[in-house]
Amino acid sequence: MTNPSLLILPGDGIGPEVMAEVRKIIAWYGDKRDVHFDVSEGLVGGCSYDVHGTPLTDETMELAQSVDAVLLGAVGGPQYDNLDFSVKPERGLLRLRKEMDLYANLRPAQCFDALADFSSLKKDVVAGLDIMIVRELTSGIYFGEPRGIFKEGNERVGINTQRYTESEIERVARSAFELARRRNNKVCSMEKANVMESGILWREVVQRVHDTEYPDVQLSHMYADAGAMQLCRWPKQFDVIVTDNLFGDLLSDAAAMLTGSLGMLPSASLGAPMANGRPKAMYEPVHGSAPDIAGQGKANPIACILSFAMALRYSFDMGDEATRLEAAIEKVLADGARTGDLLGPEGGSPISTAQMGDAIVAALDASL
Ligand code: IPM
Ligand code: MG
Repeated sequence: MTNPSLLILPGDGIGPEVMAEVRKIIAWYGDKRDVHFDVSEGLVGGCSYDVHGTPLTDETMELAQSVDAVLLGAVGGPQYDNLDFSVKPERGLLRLRKEMDLYANLRPAQCFDALADFSSLKKDVVAGLDIMIVRELTSGIYFGEPRGIFKEGNERVGINTQRYTESEIERVARSAFELARRRNNKVCSMEKANVMESGILWREVVQRVHDTEYPDVQLSHMYADAGAMQLCRWPKQFDVIVTDNLFGDLLSDAAAMLTGSLGMLPSASLGAPMANGRPKAMYEPVHGSAPDIAGQGKANPIACILSFAMALRYSFDMGDEATRLEAAIEKVLADGARTGDLLGPEGGSPISTAQMGDAIVAALDASL
């Protein structure tokens, strides 16, 4: 049997640093668990632009289409701010999402016990928090036409279009209901049906998918602004939240902060099953390229390592190994290991990116 294939795209900023720690984890699985991957590596984002004049080459795009899973670090940086829109680092990421048709973006927000004190919210509001945001990732205002900056009389007008077809809503709704069945069986759908026609359709279609296919799952609807408020007020009321591309972008950043640090949260972007039964998939941390701390060994590699854990679970049917890795991270945090982002106002001495990776490897060793 051939090994499952993995394309690693470290990207920009702290991407390469956190990905180096994931490579340690991958090596550990090979050495200690006899779990092997065929790993290839490529460029995405600004680093690809620097070499090829494009944030993603056709060759890398083809490679991404051919592997079992893609693992991405982060893209972007201030040195690329003035580039033409069409070659900005983010376009590489968006092209991957769109062409691989990764319509369901899973963003868990889980609060590790050891970090409950560190949230900006009160401890009892976040302790034990475990919610999953399912963000539609390939449509909506990110991709709708018409878009652009146009001349209108004496001035310019900037246009983006929120657009959803019924089938686009249906498939992401199904992803959310399927996930809910394996969790606490609750879905809350968020839109702005009070002001947007696309929101009216969203609500109708989610309700229909529920009534015809998932009547056993508890479904509620909320306006996305109220949803943001409820996420801060009492986030534990939620299990799975399903929402569109733009609201999902905002709500997932807010949810991430509930858990204490953006440096902790992974994501999985899943599409339709491939011929081998695995879903098309890309895994990436929710955090960005953090150019301010790039290259200094300060970044927290946990979000990227947890993204690899999601790959084990959702692409490779190794839920037990994913749980082992998550438990190792939990242990390291409980033992007090902290990168800079995990130190409260009172400070303390942070460990480096590499030290955090090593600590997790040691905890994996201890799990055997
Ligand atoms: C995210 C990011 C991206 C997005 C950017 C980098 C294009 O914010 O993954 O949440 O807006 O989707
Ligand atoms: Mg975002």
